[in-house]
Amino acid sequence: MAGVLLYGAPAPGLAEIPKGAVQVSPLILGSQDLAELDDASANQAVILAPGGTLERDYVLAQALRVLKPGAPILAFALKDKGGSRLKKALEAFGCEVGEDARKHHRFCRAARPKAPKGLADAIAAGGPQLRPDLGLWSQPGVFSWDRIDPGSARLLEILPKLAGKGADLGCGVGVLAAAILASPNVTSLACVDLDRRAVACAQHNLDDPRARVLWADARVRDESLTSLDFVVMNPPFHDGGSEDKALGVAFIAAAAAMLHKGGTAWIVANRHLPYEHGLGGAFAEVTVKADAGGYKIFEARK
Ligand SMILES: C[S@@+](CC[C@H](N)C(=O)[O-])C[C@H]1O[C@@H](n2cnc3c(N)ncnc32)[C@H](O)[C@@H]1O
Repeated sequence: MAGVLLYGAPAPGLAEIPKGAVQVSPLILGSQDLAELDDASANQAVILAPGGTLERDYVLAQALRVLKPGAPILAFALKDKGGSRLKKALEAFGCEVGEDARKHHRFCRAARPKAPKGLADAIAAGGPQLRPDLGLWSQPGVFSWDRIDPGSARLLEILPKLAGKGADLGCGVGVLAAAILASPNVTSLACVDLDRRAVACAQHNLDDPRARVLWADARVRDESLTSLDFVVMNPPFHDGGSEDKALGVAFIAAAAAMLHKGGTAWIVANRHLPYEHGLGGAFAEVTVKADAGGYKIFEARK
């Protein structure tokens, strides 16, 4: 069993990470799922807390559930990304919290109380759940967890019925994939996401033998994804909270590498993102199919 739990990847020098700590962030490939660890089984937890309230409370509650009574927990976050609310969040679970500030972060230290309060409620509120409005399983913390992203909605408005073998890169909980699989001419669809929570929900949501859901980094070449007829994506453009245009450009290059000549990529982009150059270099023909409401939809033929 895990001796020390580590959630997230703090910048070097920010917090002391004991050797052999077990990574439990769903955003790090290969990590363990906190939800699967036994009650009162871990000796220590070091948590770079996520900013969203439901997501943060879920992580803190799961960590307190998994820690042995009296075991230390260190939770920290940038002051303006939820750090200033961490102390209250831990106190609500019955912890006595010591707080200090360093490098724009708030650090909260506590020992796991003998009888923490409210863990089950926080775990239920922040755990996987069927969203009646989406008709899909989702979880706080995954991309656009409780509503369809407006860019994805625009793509769905104009996406033709696709056919053959395809991929959905950065599939999230499977909003685009579910619509794509409505076409009987789609023979297979690989759905790739880096977020383990999204992958678990997509597996529930895409109960279709043609769908294969992969917990993977879409930028890393997968030899099983070649000669595809189509790729669909609404690529991420944030990494660790800050904008990263290189992510979308890497997704475009990955899509081009997966397609056969003549294969098509459908791409959603926020209007301000400069994807035209990357698309022009990787594809023979690029058409803007829609440009409204802050989003562009590209069809790119290899
Ligand atoms: C803009 S969201 C789109 C989600 C979904 N397709 C939709 O339309 O709602 C981008 C997705 O890419 C995922 N992601 C981020 N970096 C990734 C990477 N390197 N490889 C695979 N997926 C990634 C995120 O977890 C997120 O689910």
